[in-house]
Amino acid sequence: MTALLQVTGLEAAYGRARVLFGVDAEVEAGSLLCVMGRNGVGKTTLLNAIMGVLPPTGGRVIFDGEDVTRLPTHERVRRGMGYVPQGHETFPQLTVAENLQVTLDATKHRDRSAIDAALDVFPRLEEFLGRRAGFLSGGQQQQLAIARALVTRPRLLILDEPTEGIQPSIVAEIEAAIERLHQEDGLAVLLVEQYLELALRLADAFVIIEGGVVRRAGGAEDLHDDEVKRLLAV
Ligand SMILES: Nc1ncnc2c1ncn2[C@@H]1O[C@H](COP(=O)(O)OP(=O)(O)O)[C@@H](O)[C@H]1O
Ligand SMILES: [Mg+2]
Repeated sequence: MTALLQVTGLEAAYGRARVLFGVDAEVEAGSLLCVMGRNGVGKTTLLNAIMGVLPPTGGRVIFDGEDVTRLPTHERVRRGMGYVPQGHETFPQLTVAENLQVTLDATKHRDRSAIDAALDVFPRLEEFLGRRAGFLSGGQQQQLAIARALVTRPRLLILDEPTEGIQPSIVAEIEAAIERLHQEDGLAVLLVEQYLELALRLADAFVIIEGGVVRRAGGAEDLHDDEVKRLLAV
């Protein structure tokens, strides 16, 4: 069986500064892959290259058997790649309801029930439907950012450090939501996460990036290895 997402030899750079030197990774349908590594190793760059936000300088991105390497980002979203960038991006001047609506308007399916389904994952957002996103707490904005990605009805949800800098009560809700989407709905997830603890609870498989390549890859059971701790130690 071929993986839902296959990344091979992916290279990326900012101008002349090369960051990724040939990254290989796969996300199987219905599984959760955790991308780990210290600050600044290129995790966000990898996600941006996978989504075409930063066009890769080499390598290939195959989604559901189709080479999407040269497609614009919105075409990847249409094919089922949902992306929640680092730092909970929302439209701050729009209300929560409007944030979800403009996202729905940009989809091909236009099915309103996708908004209800997203709110069902984050019921707390329902209390704030009329509030401008910019006035929500960081944790609520992150929930909204994930909800927006869910409205696109992704088959693969790509999350960049979704619990970074967020108040602990909401961290637990976000973790529970990811777990539910993965376990109950069978959604495939590519999660960038620096913390081993969270990876240990959620991941089916992992890759650790260092020096612009994958240094270590394995199944959840291998996360207990000493080398993993060494690669993540700060
Ligand atoms: N927009 C940018 N322009 C130039 N260099 C960047 C840019 N974004 C990130 N970098 C550099 O690329 C490297 C990888 O960054 P990043 O992918 O954000 O790492 P991570 O997400 O693992 O913390 C770092 O050295 C960072 O300074
Ligand atoms: Mg990052």
